[in-house]
Amino acid sequence: MTQDIDGVNYGPLQQLLGRWIGTKGMDNAPDANADPDKTAYTDELIFTAAGPAENAEEQQLAAVRYHHIVRKLENGQIFHDQIGHWIYEASTSRVMHSLTIPRGVCVLAGGTVTQDSGSTVFEVKAEADSKTFGIIQSPFMLEKAKTNAFEMRLSIKGDEMSYEETMSLFIYGKDFEHIDKSSLKRVVYD
Ligand code: HEM
Repeated sequence: MTQDIDGVNYGPLQQLLGRWIGTKGMDNAPDANADPDKTAYTDELIFTAAGPAENAEEQQLAAVRYHHIVRKLENGQIFHDQIGHWIYEASTSRVMHSLTIPRGVCVLAGGTVTQDSGSTVFEVKAEADSKTFGIIQSPFMLEKAKTNAFEMRLSIKGDEMSYEETMSLFIYGKDFEHIDKSSLKRVVYD
């Protein structure tokens, strides 16, 4: 899996580059009254090459930056906005996924990339109690709407992508699996 751009080996991340549109997203979110609150959505993912990084003169990484914009299908209103990076280490073929959501929650998830029937599959995880692949959240979120774990599977084949992400929350006094899934098509190559 060697893909060089400007001398940087982005490996399987190269397949993410460009702008993607999805029209069949489904959000399964917590709600104090309804259990759960399901919202159909459209989404847009923009991935851009973000260059190499060297850590401690030893670890060689390459990253792509992304912006995820999610709109309610019924009225086009943006109801989720997420930014982050996918990061690849060629020597180990491992990936990391960092993300920020504007609720006061940041995640650094780690995992693998594999091939499955012609698709490239990224799978990453983070846990709130971990000192490495973990979750940082504001005092309010820690107390009232804690994210205990984050798990994501993103699969890509040519110009088609699908993902499913599960945020294991503790909210309104109970555990809740907040799940988002969508499939997208690439509309622009970067
Ligand atoms: C496509 C992606 C996502 C969508 C569409 C989405 C949407 C939503 C919605 C509609 C709510 C309920 C808000 C309300 O109470 O009115 C919610 C709650 C929440 N989301 Fe997400 N979310 C997404 C991804 C994430 C991710 C990646 C995280 C964290 C890693 C996250 C963490 C939370 C938390 C902690 C809450 C509880 C806050 C609350 O309801 O009071 N979400 N999300």
